[in-house]
Amino acid sequence: MTGRMDLKLVQRDASGVDLAFRADVLAGLAEPQKAVPARWFYDDTGSRLFEDITRLPEYYPTRAETEILTTRASEIAELIGPGRAVVEFGSGSSVKTPLLLSAIRPLAYVPLDIAGDFLRVSSAALAEKFPGLPVYPVEADFMRRVELPAEVTSLPKLGFFPGSTIGNMIARTATDLLRSMRATLGEGALLLIGMDLVKDEDVLLAAYDDVAGVTARFNLNLAERINRELGGDIPVDKLRHEARWNDPFARIEMHLVATADIAFTVSGQAFSMRAGESIHTENSHKFTKRSSQLLLAAGGWEPLARWTDALGQFSLVLAESRPPRSAP
Ligand code: AVI
Repeated sequence: MTGRMDLKLVQRDASGVDLAFRADVLAGLAEPQKAVPARWFYDDTGSRLFEDITRLPEYYPTRAETEILTTRASEIAELIGPGRAVVEFGSGSSVKTPLLLSAIRPLAYVPLDIAGDFLRVSSAALAEKFPGLPVYPVEADFMRRVELPAEVTSLPKLGFFPGSTIGNMIARTATDLLRSMRATLGEGALLLIGMDLVKDEDVLLAAYDDVAGVTARFNLNLAERINRELGGDIPVDKLRHEARWNDPFARIEMHLVATADIAFTVSGQAFSMRAGESIHTENSHKFTKRSSQLLLAAGGWEPLARWTDALGQFSLVLAESRPPRSAP
């Protein structure tokens, strides 16, 4: 591991408030359809709850993607080939990342994440599991082009973006990210990306509204986080979790719905909600073969192979960087 984690990416005011969090919340709550970006789910409590979600019987994506990486490991490895630097967009999961790394025998592993603490912990665990593999964690916002460590510049790259996190972005943001990934990874790069599939509405709704109520706690934690960190007094007991399927946009939406008329303040600003009104907290887009291909093409990537789990619930796509074309 190297010591390149001294950047301070999060800007705070004198009392420790994350300025970007406050700006997003105050702007989002002032909109006619209240909305807070999903990236603010992941404080310590939210990250722990998300880990719990990935183990729920109803939440199939993690299991399905792990199944693909396990059962198709040799095919995936053959297409990717050895000797690449794996650049993971996010801190890496304790299950999926080791599966990929053992399958393809890379020459280096570079996890990119804005959350330095997670990056440090997961990189240390990974380095211990793969003693001969150089690990170069980079604390960075991967929504923009990232300068990779000099040690990997000459190696061909494989980007790894599992979990269908791309589905949490609207098309324009997802396209921008895919383009930034191309710029970060350079010429000749490959990308292995998880993309969740459109399926039966009941299966989708159950995955985002589990019987044990873990996803509800994950969603409600956002309102609790606003109260904790931004001096809010949102009456969280008057909000309930709701998952909705938005068919025209092929996405699950999560909302916090007011069960009564409520009024509250956040950072000294006053807001109100009528009973039934909601705060939109997440989009989770689901793809078809065609829509995933279109999105990847818009971002400058051409699919080479595509695997699904045995139930056909989730896809893992291997794509190659495509030089930009100006002609249609
Ligand atoms: C991180 N992301 C891909 C998850 C998803 O399925 O959209 C977040 C999540 N939200 C509710 N459950 C899981």
